[in-house]
Amino acid sequence: MPGKGKGDPMGSPFILLHRHTCLGRGKEIPWDVTSLKKKLDGKVAIVTGGASGIGEATARHFANHGARAVVIADIQDEKGQLVAASIGAHRSTYIRCDVSDENQFKFLVDSTVQTYGRLDIMFSNAGIINDLNQSILELDFSAFDRLFAVNVRGMAACVKHAALAMVEGGVRGSIVCTASVVATMATPIHADYIMSKHAVLGLVRSASARLGEYGIRVNCVSPSGVATPLACNAFKMTAEEVAKTIEPKICLKGVVLTTSHVADAVVFLACDESEFITGHNLAVDGGFRPSMRYIGVKDEAQDDL
Ligand SMILES: NC(=O)c1ccc[n+]([C@@H]2O[C@H](COP(=O)([O-])OP(=O)(O)OC[C@H]3O[C@@H](n4cnc5c(N)ncnc54)[C@H](O)[C@@H]3O)[C@@H](O)[C@H]2O)c1
Repeated sequence: MPGKGKGDPMGSPFILLHRHTCLGRGKEIPWDVTSLKKKLDGKVAIVTGGASGIGEATARHFANHGARAVVIADIQDEKGQLVAASIGAHRSTYIRCDVSDENQFKFLVDSTVQTYGRLDIMFSNAGIINDLNQSILELDFSAFDRLFAVNVRGMAACVKHAALAMVEGGVRGSIVCTASVVATMATPIHADYIMSKHAVLGLVRSASARLGEYGIRVNCVSPSGVATPLACNAFKMTAEEVAKTIEPKICLKGVVLTTSHVADAVVFLACDESEFITGHNLAVDGGFRPSMRYIGVKDEAQDDL
């Protein structure tokens, strides 16, 4: 019987079994702690936009979950280098890469494969938002083009080159993109940003349909508002003000969305726990319930708001 092994207070010297109480049923079940392997053990990952916000938190989560290498790609050199150094030079590096330039992105993927031998996980997360608050009536196309170059073209380049490296290396990898709650709904302002996030969802759906035959999964996470530099700059608010503004629109009370919540969802999509999930848009939004000014509706309950 587990836990009763001779000369070993923990039970068999070969199979270490802990007693774990199954809450709510008052029943104990044996729990094999040897099976607690780290979720991303030995994986090689790239995180774009990894110098700040959601990307930074996810890079740290990847390392904490056992990733062998985490390559941080960004255009904020100082911040990116600091994040990589704090994770540890033995398993994190920073590479400057503007995702809107396909050649820079190809170089990033090639050098990652050269250095670490393979690519298992691509977190395509870099994104920007214009602070112009423009609706369709004021659309400024130079700002629009810049935003699309990063949020759509850059995201597509990430998926394309990550997938090529995985196909070539015979890796059944996982690609995760950062979309947004506004990938499936809209506000009257930030029209360009909203269009770009709808495009990310299209990219994920199309790429997952194509890459399934190689065993490569493509999914996205869709956070509601989280107080990163992007959100604070766009809304010209402090982190506390961003959280306060979002709070009334969230069903789930008593918890505020953090970058760590988003990173947890990305780890799930990156690891084998989501082995049969592809083409999925995972909302990390606390049940975001938009006001009547939002279109695209998650449920009829918006009528009460
Ligand atoms: N913060 C939110 O409320 C929120 C909600 C939904 C989705 N998102 C999305 O999350 C992603 C991450 O944003 P965040 O909130 O962590 O913001 P952030 O500003 O903290 O991080 C974005 C990172 O992307 C980098 N970046 C920008 N342009 C780049 C480029 N051309 N090449 C490489 N890197 C570039 C920035 O330097 C920065 O480090 C974005 O795609 C954003 O659209 C954010």
